[in-house]
Amino acid sequence: MNVLLAGGAGYIGSHTCVELINAGHDVVIADNFSNSCPVAVERVEELTGRKIPLYEADVCDRDAVEKIFSENKIDAVIHFAGLKAVGESCEKPVEYYRNNIDSTLTLLEVMKKHGVNNFIFSSSATVYGTPEETVPLVETMPKGSPTNPYGWTKFMMEQILTDTANANPDMSVVLLRYFNPIGAHESGRIGEDPNGIPNNLMPYITQVAAGRLKCLGVFGNDYPTHDGTGVRDYIHVVDLAKGHVKAIEYSAEHKGTEIFNLGTGVGYSVLDIVKAFEKANSIEIPYVIKPRRAGDIAECFADATKAKKILGWIAEKNLEDMCRDSWNWQSHNVNGYK
Ligand code: NAD
Ligand code: WQD
Repeated sequence: MNVLLAGGAGYIGSHTCVELINAGHDVVIADNFSNSCPVAVERVEELTGRKIPLYEADVCDRDAVEKIFSENKIDAVIHFAGLKAVGESCEKPVEYYRNNIDSTLTLLEVMKKHGVNNFIFSSSATVYGTPEETVPLVETMPKGSPTNPYGWTKFMMEQILTDTANANPDMSVVLLRYFNPIGAHESGRIGEDPNGIPNNLMPYITQVAAGRLKCLGVFGNDYPTHDGTGVRDYIHVVDLAKGHVKAIEYSAEHKGTEIFNLGTGVGYSVLDIVKAFEKANSIEIPYVIKPRRAGDIAECFADATKAKKILGWIAEKNLEDMCRDSWNWQSHNVNGYK
């Protein structure tokens, strides 16, 4: 299939691009580089030995999207092109609603015009809200109330896409609810390159390891978990990328809307991650316990049974792989792509 990757220069998009090409698919990337850079695409080209059609375009810009569909025979769209920083979304809600929802509507409008009916969406475990005592999270559970505008954009876009598929019997929508992607391609050539001080745990740890940051703050050690620190379902980004290949192939054969959790089904605490990183890379990570971070929950991990049963997908990489590959990327690219 020829797949348009909206936001394909980003962390998850670039890894998915590699796996789609490895699986024999063709790709076109559209990205406005608001949180990425063209070097990531050059690195994907280097890893795959393929020239990738790349459009520097805002996917909220209807004319720009129209041009891409006119110049390429697109069979399916994977929509990664979202703003994703939880804290920033509380400060700039309008920008988040505008970018994330407008991009989805624009893609849907242009797809309709060109008779393209397969849409894979980057959703998030955040749509389950604050699931106290309900882990593991199953797709059949009702969505909860997200704690921030970013999460609400995912909640709303899931609804928009479901309604669109309901109205069009030819359409296939796959909602992929990611848990906590970490790690990097094993080559160390592509990886996560956050702007400024990282909000997320693994990039913070790798920047401490690289000497860019002094010490990790662990947000709370009084949660009802095995060591008091927050538990999450960390998934290797290459496993996540392979989940998209399965989703694309599923979408080619099925109509309607289907939701899949993409997680490992296993939860690790913040201190489990620190210890695993130290062991895998023989580097000490200094940390201090800080107060809980507003909006955090104690535990969040997936029931990943449905993806295994229907997509034939499971996460194959373990925590050691995730810690080793995160550091391999960061240590060979101390300042990311810059
Ligand atoms: P990322 O920021 O690395 O990638 C997103 C890409 O989209 C970037 O390259 C950015 O430049 C681009 N983009 C944003 N708005 C755009 C627009 N209007 N037009 C064109 N390009 C635009 O983030 P990521 O971690 O790769 O996440 C990809 C998707 O997965 C996002 O939608 C995110 O919300 C979702 N997601 C991420 C995580 C995570 O922890 N990384 C978890 C759950 C869901
Ligand atoms: C993981 C754990 C923190 C940083 C976020 C979004 C979610 C999804 C994935 C997009 C928590 C702790 C963190 C630090 C810490 N993104 N932590 N010190 O919060 O599970 O999920 O990213 O959809 O929507 O909310 O991920 O990596 O920020 O935190 O102690 O410096 O690490 O408290 O327990 P989170 P995270």
